[in-house]
Amino acid sequence: MADKRLGRWHIIGAGRIGSLAAHYLQQAGAEILGVRPGPAHRRRIELVFDSASAISQRPLELPIQPPLDCEPISQLLVACKTPYSAAALARVRLTDDATVVRLQNGLGSLDGLLAPGQRLIEGVTASAVMSAGDGRLRVVAENATFFGGGPRPAWFDALAAHWPMLAWADDIRPPQWRKLIANAVLNPLTALHDVPNGALLERDDLQTEMQALVAEADAVLARLDPGWPADSYDRVAEVASATAANTSSMRADIHAGAITEIEAINGWLLQRAAELGLDLPTHRRIVAAVHALEPD
Ligand SMILES: NC(=O)c1ccc[n+]([C@@H]2O[C@H](COP(=O)([O-])OP(=O)(O)OC[C@H]3O[C@@H](n4cnc5c(N)ncnc54)[C@H](OP(=O)(O)O)[C@@H]3O)[C@@H](O)[C@H]2O)c1
Repeated sequence: MADKRLGRWHIIGAGRIGSLAAHYLQQAGAEILGVRPGPAHRRRIELVFDSASAISQRPLELPIQPPLDCEPISQLLVACKTPYSAAALARVRLTDDATVVRLQNGLGSLDGLLAPGQRLIEGVTASAVMSAGDGRLRVVAENATFFGGGPRPAWFDALAAHWPMLAWADDIRPPQWRKLIANAVLNPLTALHDVPNGALLERDDLQTEMQALVAEADAVLARLDPGWPADSYDRVAEVASATAANTSSMRADIHAGAITEIEAINGWLLQRAAELGLDLPTHRRIVAAVHALEPD
């Protein structure tokens, strides 16, 4: 049942995860418009849902507008890769009281970019969408997704009724930090060693690297929040095991000759560490090594 509370949403980054979010928003009754530099066009996206019991295909129709053609935006979902988000946001006009949902890995990519009356909602998802290779998008996992930070907006329950396992977190930091640590370990190591996620558990040298990265990240997060349990290794190893055959997004970015999200992941940890007077030698080395593989 469509719900008027959702209203109109613009999306920057209607790629894999952005298209899944657009699908749920549309199911919930929202009007969706994509924002992308270039000529206005209509985009048809086929989402293939690949559950254990059935495969279903759902089409998504999105009008795509160039940023300058968009009216002032009051509800925006940002789901492009983190290195492109600040420049993309700078091209659109937001209303003074706009809501921006950031559905990206890493942290901080939109920090300081919104005006005081505008609201940033952080999204963290364990769902996974891949390119099927034939132009379609394959939804390989619909897992827990959290939106949060501050009071729950009026539209949230209407969206959650159509977005499986979407929950509101008053404090978004615990799910964000859990995801951040897994990304900060699995992404750069699999990219640098050009291996699938599960290989990290099969090599002693890579397990040593994993332990060092987890310990340094836990030390920073425990300084930011003394309540942080700082025992993330087993959880990170579980993610590596559960996604053993997968290619991480950073490994895929390096293969594609693209800039990675390392600055929003390990770089965010390094920034917080510098503010706290901590040194993270393993993260420092790994970030430099990933940058060396990126295009100039
Ligand atoms: N895919 C997943 O399963 C998954 C899961 C969890 C989290 N995430 C996170 O979600 C974010 C997006 O990842 P993704 O895998 O969905 O990436 P993606 O498939 O590459 O989608 C990104 C989209 O952003 C668009 N884009 C790039 N620059 C833009 C700009 N300036 N203005 C408007 N659109 C722009 C791209 O358009 P073009 O294709 O036309 O360049 C592309 O459609 C990342 O932070 C990722 O870590 C992804």
